[in-house]
Amino acid sequence: MIYCDNAATSFPKPEAVAAAMNAHLATEAVNPGRAGFDLALEAGARIDALRGDLGRFFNNPARDPDRTIFTPNATLALNLAIRGLCRPGDHVVAEVTAHNSVLRPLHMLRRRGGLTFDLAPCDSSGFVDPAGIERLITPATRMVILNHASNVTGAVQAVAEIGRLCRGRDILLLLDAAQSAGVLTVDMARDRIDVVAFTGHKGLMGPTGTGGLVLGPRAEPVAILAGGTGVRSAELFQPETLPYRLEAGTLNAVGLAGLQAGLAWVENRGPDRIAAHETGLAAEFVALCRGIAGLKVLGHGTGSAGRHLAVVSLTCAGVDPEKIGTLLDVQWGIAVRTGLHCAPLIHAALGSDPAGTVRFSFGPFSTKEQLPRLQEALTAIARGS
Ligand SMILES: Cc1ncc(COP(=O)(O)O)c(C=O)c1O
Repeated sequence: MIYCDNAATSFPKPEAVAAAMNAHLATEAVNPGRAGFDLALEAGARIDALRGDLGRFFNNPARDPDRTIFTPNATLALNLAIRGLCRPGDHVVAEVTAHNSVLRPLHMLRRRGGLTFDLAPCDSSGFVDPAGIERLITPATRMVILNHASNVTGAVQAVAEIGRLCRGRDILLLLDAAQSAGVLTVDMARDRIDVVAFTGHKGLMGPTGTGGLVLGPRAEPVAILAGGTGVRSAELFQPETLPYRLEAGTLNAVGLAGLQAGLAWVENRGPDRIAAHETGLAAEFVALCRGIAGLKVLGHGTGSAGRHLAVVSLTCAGVDPEKIGTLLDVQWGIAVRTGLHCAPLIHAALGSDPAGTVRFSFGPFSTKEQLPRLQEALTAIARGS
């Protein structure tokens, strides 16, 4: 199989990730933070070290490991941030490249009278003009939510400019770094990002079931979940101290052991080097696709070189994306994703409504040698043979 679905989850994972998870299961698989025996303390200390590592990785100016909160994925992290930080009457500005993990919580809260929101548009490559966000800001705007990099076109947004405009108006900036963490610099201090929502299983190379929030000094979400924390068990309300305020129940300790190894692997190799490898392949792939009659690459337009992650969406005249995905899988052994990619609103701007696209996404283990086969498969499919 040629795996081209790294935007869904990176695969394969570095060997060190599986090794760390195996080692955890073999030697340390106790419940961290729940008991005072040495092994439980060591397991807890390892998780706390990872909190600090992630805070540093995202350059959180708060410099407090307890402000890294673990969740099973970016979706829960985004829900915690949106629900925990917005109060009834607040207004939110998001944008149309947003994933359903932002759109659905916003719609749910609006239906329940919890907030109002507006969505800034994007252009036909998926880029959001910061002025489009600025125009939607009202005196009630509490938060701007930005998808750092689109999981449909790979378009990378102008986070520094949007951070500046939010900070100047005392508005919180919540960054969805699900696609960008591990391949783009996410610098909370430099770019004035108040909250980062990340997932562990994509560019950070960890296993599924890991993700979280990193809270800057201005972000104090209220508790949304309540349950066991292993501390102050006599209290009937969720403790106010972080990370307990936002974490309830036993953590995914084995997953976090894998995430720690994934993060170390990324830091060791260097996000810039990883990104250069992946985007180099994507650029070559785009050039190959442009030579195939009937194929249309969405986004990745002229003048946007260097402004995309290695995520390439395409359509083929007269062939349904789902059918292309099936042919690629069954006849060619190529794994891609088809459809709307949980980001339904961007497709109006791209012209890929309602069927969506065929998405190829490259990872650190994708190779140049795989490209000719992709070209051969797409040429045959586009020709109808
Ligand atoms: C832009 C974006 N945001 C959020 C998510 C949700 O991530 P998770 O599956 O970890 O909840 C994804 C996953 O594909 C994504 O691409």
